[in-house]
Amino acid sequence: MNNPWRNDFPQLHDGYTYLDTAAMSLKPQSVIDAVNHYYRDLSVNIHRGFYEASIETTELYEASRKTLAAFINAFPEETVFTRGTTSSLNLVASSFGKMVLKPGDEIITSELEHNSSFLPWQVIAEKTGAVLRFIPLDENGRICVDNFRKVLSAKTKIVALTYVSNVMGYITPVEEIIKLTHEQGAYVVLDAAQAVQHLSIDVKKLDVDFLAFSGHKMLGPTGIGCLYGKKALLDKMEPTEFGGDMNEDVDKYSSTWKETPYRFEAGTMPVSAAIGLKAAIEYISKAKIKNIENQVNMVYSNAYSRLKEIPGVKIYNQGADTGIIAFNLENIPAHDAVSFYAEKGVAIRAGQHCAQLVTRWLDIPSCLRASFYLYNDISDADILVKTTIEAIEFFHKLGF
Ligand code: ALA
Repeated sequence: MNNPWRNDFPQLHDGYTYLDTAAMSLKPQSVIDAVNHYYRDLSVNIHRGFYEASIETTELYEASRKTLAAFINAFPEETVFTRGTTSSLNLVASSFGKMVLKPGDEIITSELEHNSSFLPWQVIAEKTGAVLRFIPLDENGRICVDNFRKVLSAKTKIVALTYVSNVMGYITPVEEIIKLTHEQGAYVVLDAAQAVQHLSIDVKKLDVDFLAFSGHKMLGPTGIGCLYGKKALLDKMEPTEFGGDMNEDVDKYSSTWKETPYRFEAGTMPVSAAIGLKAAIEYISKAKIKNIENQVNMVYSNAYSRLKEIPGVKIYNQGADTGIIAFNLENIPAHDAVSFYAEKGVAIRAGQHCAQLVTRWLDIPSCLRASFYLYNDISDADILVKTTIEAIEFFHKLGF
């Protein structure tokens, strides 16, 4: 079958099957070219120089912010560049969380969280005396609105949730959750690291308070991410990092900070990565999320329907929404199995996926995870299925 995107990814070659996009997406040539242009032709800092190269670099950096803002229907001044989802969520917890949380206030979270969407809130709860409340997951491990209602109350101050689970690939019903949360006068913080590359996100329509994501899972470079925040909320927040470029006036005993988003971008930012991120968003916009998801679903459904029929394969997420299969081969530890796949040129992930609460909920030490994106096609599903059958035979012969 003809995949219109596959050849744009120079990392792919015969004998290599990449099924680990949930950890890191591959990069199209246009992103590599954009980053190369910066290093080859510019290689200077932003916001600081009056010479031509610096002016062009600043323009490219700010153009990226505009593209990023438009991609999620935000305003540029609400779009903070960060070093990734982890930095974004730590910023919200350490600044906004610290500002609004009082002893006894409740933070609603879930066992589906990636550590970056959970640990900042666990830490800030300890510091402020706030209390963590967990939405009971349904029998398939999903967050559902009925169970969310069970933990939402007048004590709720923050709801911090994953938009899409990085292990289960489930979409959280965020529209209803945001509405209900706002009725209680509380705030919603979404980890969209696994969502932006699969869903069309409109922050205004969602009315979400904060939304965080990373470039490297959406075809962009590493080291760049975004924190969207409502302007009125960002304006109230203290920066958590202080230094160059974020200050307005510096005096011996007191200083002032720039307006948002610049007050949150201290020091030299990952300029090349920001420039590459613009190219990544343009690539996704041209491909269109709808077409990307058709491709992902086609490959995922093909692989899922065949894997679940193989005796000895245990799949933990039934009907994932975003092309992720979390599974194990019975009696074969995930880290042994993953080495077999690696030897066959199949890149999948094994472990707890930076989300130990999920593997604890599943009551397993670890699992394998295959995740799909637009450059995958049925030939990748074929190889995954074939390698799985071979792995089971290989380990059974060894007595597993
Ligand atoms: N959060 C990334 C993953 O899920 C690293 O694999």
